Amino acid sequence: MKKILITRKLIKDSEEKASKTFEPIFNSNDELYSQSKVVDMSSGCDGILTSLTDKMDKETINKLPDTIKIISNFAVGFGNIDLDAAKKKGIIVTNTPEVLSDATAEIGILLILGACRRAAEGIESAREGGWKWSADYLIGKQLTGTRLGILGMGRIGQKIARIAKSLGMVIHYHNRSKLSDDREDGAIYHDNIKSLFSVSDVLSICCPATKETENMINKETVEYFPKGAIITNVARGDIIEDEALIDALNRRKIYAVGLDVYKNEPNLNPGYLKVKTAFILPHLGSATKDTRIAMANLAVDNIDEFFKTGNCKNKVN
Ligand code: GLV
Repeated sequence: MKKILITRKLIKDSEEKASKTFEPIFNSNDELYSQSKVVDMSSGCDGILTSLTDKMDKETINKLPDTIKIISNFAVGFGNIDLDAAKKKGIIVTNTPEVLSDATAEIGILLILGACRRAAEGIESAREGGWKWSADYLIGKQLTGTRLGILGMGRIGQKIARIAKSLGMVIHYHNRSKLSDDREDGAIYHDNIKSLFSVSDVLSICCPATKETENMINKETVEYFPKGAIITNVARGDIIEDEALIDALNRRKIYAVGLDVYKNEPNLNPGYLKVKTAFILPHLGSATKDTRIAMANLAVDNIDEFFKTGNCKNKVN
């Protein structure tokens, strides 16, 4: 049986599945391992099942024992892993697409609603008590008839588009390539971000974090938006240059943000804390029991498929 290091505690059903599939090393206390601990613990292992909290950079990958042949990431995103370094060392990297699209799209919609309808301020006022209803109390932005720009029209973006359309939003999107008519479902394609941002009353960031998308929201691009636009991010923190966005929020160029992800998680840039219209969640995108089990099971299956066939359909490098 192949020996696999599993860096974070999984939900019981998935740990049981892992035990039936290979010889796992579990992390029963769910300790956050340092990079050097991952390297030490992987001695004698054939693969590692990592989570998005494991930073598998070039240095760490180069120190892994030669017996490691697969890094199976328990996430759809894989910005935590240096894919080239892994490839050079003969390690395949896999991810868990599809199974988390619905759960993540739900959080994407929650971010849009929360930011547009001032949920952060509303929750705080309700908890404090003493608030007074008035005709203009916590007036937010209605979704009906509002233009939603989707940056990255993959599975999560398409699901957000479908729900947002049913709420009366008009969908625009930018993607590396234009979708077929049936996938587009009436959404309007923009072949560059300037064109998309300039019609986005609300933006939903759904694209992967890559070298090309890193800091795509920055000092220059934030000016492309209509005044009072709302930016939401359900993808990865690396796509936003926080200082530029916080400055735009303080100038009211951007009215509100909805973030499920941000740079340096769990440490939020303190500039956001002073912004009342910032609706921020602690990376809950895939956090439902069914989804987390499906993701972990797929991460296990990816390893199994690789050792049985020498390849894996969810290989990303
Ligand atoms: C969650 O953020 C994931 O990438 O799976």
